[in-house]
Amino acid sequence: MKYKVLELFKNNKDQYISGEDISKNIGVSRASIWKYIKALKEEGYEFESSTKVGYKLIKEADVLNYIEISPYLKTKYIGRSYYHFDTIDSTNSKAKEAAKDNLINGAVFISEEQVSGRGRLGRTWISPKHKGIWLSILLTPDLPPLEVSKTTLIGSAAVYLALKELGIESSIKWPNDIILNNKKLCGILTEISGEMNNINYMVMGIGINVNTLKEDFSEDLKPIATSLKRELKEDFNRKKLTSYILNNFEDLYDDFLATGKLNKTLDISREASILIGKEIQCINRDKSFICKAEDITEDGELLVILNDGSYKKIISGEVSIRGLYGYVE
Ligand code: BTN
Repeated sequence: MKYKVLELFKNNKDQYISGEDISKNIGVSRASIWKYIKALKEEGYEFESSTKVGYKLIKEADVLNYIEISPYLKTKYIGRSYYHFDTIDSTNSKAKEAAKDNLINGAVFISEEQVSGRGRLGRTWISPKHKGIWLSILLTPDLPPLEVSKTTLIGSAAVYLALKELGIESSIKWPNDIILNNKKLCGILTEISGEMNNINYMVMGIGINVNTLKEDFSEDLKPIATSLKRELKEDFNRKKLTSYILNNFEDLYDDFLATGKLNKTLDISREASILIGKEIQCINRDKSFICKAEDITEDGELLVILNDGSYKKIISGEVSIRGLYGYVE
């Protein structure tokens, strides 16, 4: 209901709206209006009020609720079920919990802050309030697990394209980190629930450091992680970026489902790859070896050439660019 009130104010910019008009338009009692205004103020919206003329919205909030992102959203189903939180443990955990009761394909779970944000390999993901985009997409593709794992490249390609639309040229570090000026800007954690031959659902969690400051990162991350604000030296609009990611994601994901091939995504993964042509170190469990990244295969694996000239396909694992960049994982 508070968002109905917000919508009314947004449709009547710079105007006072009387309590009576709000009540008539929304169908709520006049006595309850202050409650909605109070809740909106807590989200960061600012109002001017006058006993004679009512309320006027004087400042928008920097929040990622549906009202704020939907003007830019062009999707059919990704993000059309949208769960926005102020604070939460982890949006991936929330999406998995929700999936037990209500499996909505394309539902998005997004939070202003995560207090137990999760990264790959059991790492924590620092997710301070209002400073990033911390979201998870719940998907129910009718595919065997092996096929589903290919979709991980779609997430990074969607983020890359969204940044490009906003004038930012980033790179993709296979399989799905986004790198800006040789530092990590965005990470993706894909989790699958299912059996050998079929999956129940998959959750794609995307974390982007937008207005995160250097002091927000832990000491070990300071030299290797970055945010749009750190690189561009200005606050960045999270609303457009959120919608643009979802728009691009749906486009690439639908193409994959329709064709059974990753071609559209691969064009982007290859074009934006920071690894192809470079000497890299691959780490898989305890083993590590040096090789050269050659290409990304049709199935989304990293094709590398070993010192003895033989080729090897890397399916998963950690990859770092050897000593050449500030960003070495
Ligand atoms: C990585 O280690 O690179 C993956 C980081 C993934 C972080 C995102 S933030 C939204 C979603 N919820 C989580 O707890 N993790 C993912």
